[in-house]
Amino acid sequence: MLAAVTLVACAADDSIDPSLASRSETATAELDSTNDAPEAVSTPTSTSTTVPAAPNTTSTSTSTSTTEAPGSTILLTDNLGGETIGDPYYPDVGNTGYDVRSYDLDLKVDIEGRDTLSGVATIDVVTTAALDRLSFDLVELEVKSVTIDGTEVPHTQTDDKLRLAPPTTLEPNAEITIAVTYAGTPISMPSQTRIGPIGWFDIGSTASVAIGEPTGARTWFPVNDHPSDKATYTVTIDVAEPLIGVSNGELVRSEAANGRRTTRWEMRQPMASYLATVSIGDYALISSDPSATTGVAVEDAVAQRLATIFEGDFEQTDEMIDIFSELFGPYPFDEYGVLIVDAEFGFALETQGRSLYSESLIDGDGSIERIVAHELAHQWFGNHVSPSTWQDIWLNEGFASYAEDLWLEFGRGRDVVQLQTRLLGRASDALSPAPRDPGPEGLFAPSVYRRGGITLHALRLEVGDAVFFDILQTWLLRFGGGVASTEDFISLSEERSGNNLRGFFDAWLSDGPLPALPS
Ligand code: ARG
Ligand code: ZN
Repeated sequence: MLAAVTLVACAADDSIDPSLASRSETATAELDSTNDAPEAVSTPTSTSTTVPAAPNTTSTSTSTSTTEAPGSTILLTDNLGGETIGDPYYPDVGNTGYDVRSYDLDLKVDIEGRDTLSGVATIDVVTTAALDRLSFDLVELEVKSVTIDGTEVPHTQTDDKLRLAPPTTLEPNAEITIAVTYAGTPISMPSQTRIGPIGWFDIGSTASVAIGEPTGARTWFPVNDHPSDKATYTVTIDVAEPLIGVSNGELVRSEAANGRRTTRWEMRQPMASYLATVSIGDYALISSDPSATTGVAVEDAVAQRLATIFEGDFEQTDEMIDIFSELFGPYPFDEYGVLIVDAEFGFALETQGRSLYSESLIDGDGSIERIVAHELAHQWFGNHVSPSTWQDIWLNEGFASYAEDLWLEFGRGRDVVQLQTRLLGRASDALSPAPRDPGPEGLFAPSVYRRGGITLHALRLEVGDAVFFDILQTWLLRFGGGVASTEDFISLSEERSGNNLRGFFDAWLSDGPLPALPS
């Protein structure tokens, strides 16, 4: 589902609520000094992390494997399909020559010793141009063979790209199925974001987890690794018992045979690749009754060690789903849940339909309420409507941050003036980089979260509650299932309010002084 890429040019917290002023605030206070980490998400303490450095953290696969047939040399005049989506921060990822409809990933994973993964990725695509070649993003893993519509085709692997050569030029709008058989030891890699590595985390023989955001999906499957090409996913994972493989969406199959367990997971709504995850561990699968109000079922996958205590941290989830559904519109996926990984990487991530948490955030005392609201809110803002390019990251983080305060206001009856004082204080401490263009290193900078968040509060004061929530709901209706840009948000806000808001957004989303809040 390829969407058009729009390139945009371009302390006193305890007083609010003692019950919230615990670990998440402590973690946040620590973050404030590092100046490069999310507001609501605690940072990995680099020295104490139990996530070992990957054996190989280079992102460039230097080895070239080829099965290229004689006479199929890649000519410069060939239609390569544009071997980039054109992301301003990640110019190397993606391909505009096709639109992926679905990924079906059949994975066998062993985590005893060094992790090994062997898989078959069956990828249904529709071509968007005439193609003599096409490419996928894939890091480190070695491709054994590739077929297009059942016929084996030559392939090469260099510079983190898997390139395929169909026997004849593919017509535009052709529906084709590509099957890639691959294997290797998946790696983690630097992310450019200053927030630590991304990709595959090998956590000893107890767990493994794939962290995608922003461009880590390519460490575990061949992918058009950019949010603008969303697709549906089916992930099947075969692991040695008692371990179990968990992924996004609904568990549709779980079978044990010969000491191994195979689970199959389906995400039926379009998903950006960075929101896909797979984790192997000793998980308890725990389902709760659907919420009486919204009917959304909650299915959690929790590391056994934490299964008896985790609920204390997620008691509000149902009510949060109710409140957010009321404020933003229906919960966009078939079910929700959390994936609690027995590894101390120190943050949470809004993986679609099942947000993932490091064990270090969990202690059952409810102190991560803001984080819980934050990751849930991402299911609307970031997951249902995803950023057109990574430059639009404030559309994820600013919105999820502000949603924490909306939860406290509408779900917990907190005083909006006190919440505003907190927003202002925190934004004043994090003026730059500009949320509108934080640069690849600033992707998760505090200003993206806090200045991005207070921009929405300022918009609310500027246009009034009715228009503000109409803007949010129209945003989700109009762009849900796809991607949208900052420019789209400004245009929509102007359309729904009838106001000229260009100067307003220019000032709030810049790195200049914070404008005065509208009264
Ligand atoms: N999107 C996440 C959140 O704010 C932050 C992800 C940080 N990424 C990382 N590799 N630490 O909820
Ligand atoms: Zn976030």
